Amino acid sequence: MTARAAPGTLDGHTTRGEAMLEFGKKALETIGFGVRYPGGVVGLREVSAGFAANRVTAIIGPSGCGKSTFLRGVNRLTDEFGCEYEGRVILSDGADVLKLNAYDLCLLRGEKVGYVTQKPTPFSGKTVLQDVAMPLKALGVRDRDVVYGRVRAALEKAALWDETRDRLDHLSTSLSIGQQQRLCIARAIINAPEILLLDEPCSSLDPRSTQLIESLIVELAREHTVILVTHNMQQAQRVAEYTMFLYEGTLVEYGLTPVLFSNPSHPLTADYIIGKFS
Ligand SMILES: Nc1ncnc2c1ncn2[C@@H]1O[C@H](COP(=O)(O)OP(=O)(O)OP(=O)(O)O)[C@@H](O)[C@H]1O
Ligand SMILES: [Mg+2]
Repeated sequence: MTARAAPGTLDGHTTRGEAMLEFGKKALETIGFGVRYPGGVVGLREVSAGFAANRVTAIIGPSGCGKSTFLRGVNRLTDEFGCEYEGRVILSDGADVLKLNAYDLCLLRGEKVGYVTQKPTPFSGKTVLQDVAMPLKALGVRDRDVVYGRVRAALEKAALWDETRDRLDHLSTSLSIGQQQRLCIARAIINAPEILLLDEPCSSLDPRSTQLIESLIVELAREHTVILVTHNMQQAQRVAEYTMFLYEGTLVEYGLTPVLFSNPSHPLTADYIIGKFS
C-alpha cells in the first residue's frame, strides 16, 4: 500500500493532501474535493482520497477540522447551508455527486448513501415501524407486507429486532437513546445503500450501547462501505481498517489504522493521537 505524496505543507511538513491508497474496489473517491461555506469559511480543502469498498474507514481530527463537512458534502447535505464545491466526488458507478440534479440527489440520499448523525433523530409522532419505513415511503413503496419485511430485515441488521419486535407500534421516541441510534442505523440501511456515513454515532451513548454499535459497524461493513467520524481514538483502532486525519480542512495523513497510530508520518498526527490537542 502506498500513499502518493501530496501538494502543500502544514507547519512546514508535507501533507498527504492526496492519498490514493492501493486497495481493491473503491466505493467512493474524492478528487480535489473542497467545500466552502457562505462568507468564505473553508470547510474542506482539496481532499483527494479513495475509500475501500466493504471496509470501515475512520475520519479523525480536532473539532472544526471538517469531518462532518466531509460526510455532509458526500451526500450534498451541505447544499442546505449554501455551500460551494470544488473537485469531484465519484461513486462506484462513475457518477460525480457534485454534478447531480435534484432528482438524482434524492435517489442518492434515499438509496446509495445512508447517513447517521451524532444525536439520534427519531421522527416525532411516528411508531418504530413507520419511522424505519420512512425512506421506503419516500420512494413510493406502500405494500404492507413488503414494508414489514424490509423493516424487519433492517432492524435485524441493526441488532434491534429482538428488542422491538413487540414494540413496532410504540413511538420511536419512546426507545432508549442507544436503541434510537440503532433505529436510525436501521432507517439508514433499509434501502441497502452502498455507502454508510456515521458521524460520531456513539458520542451520546453509554459504554454498553457504544459497544453494541461498534460490533454492529464491523458487521455492517460486510454489506456497506462505512465511513465513521469519531473523536474516540480507541474506537477508530477497534473498528476501522483505514484512518484519515484531517486538520483545518486538509487531509494530513491517511493509511492503514495500525500504521497511522503506531507510526504516524506527520507531527500533527502524532500530537493529535496522543491527545496533545483536541
Ligand atoms: N453551517 C455552517 N456555516 C458556516 N460554517 C460552518 C458551518 N458548519 C461548519 N462550518 C465551519 O466549517 C469548518 C468545519 O466544520 P465541521 O463541522 O465540518 O467540523 P468537525 O470536524 O465536524 O467538528 P466537530 O468535531 O466539532 O464536529 C469549521 O470551521 C466550521 O466552523
Ligand atoms: Mg462534526
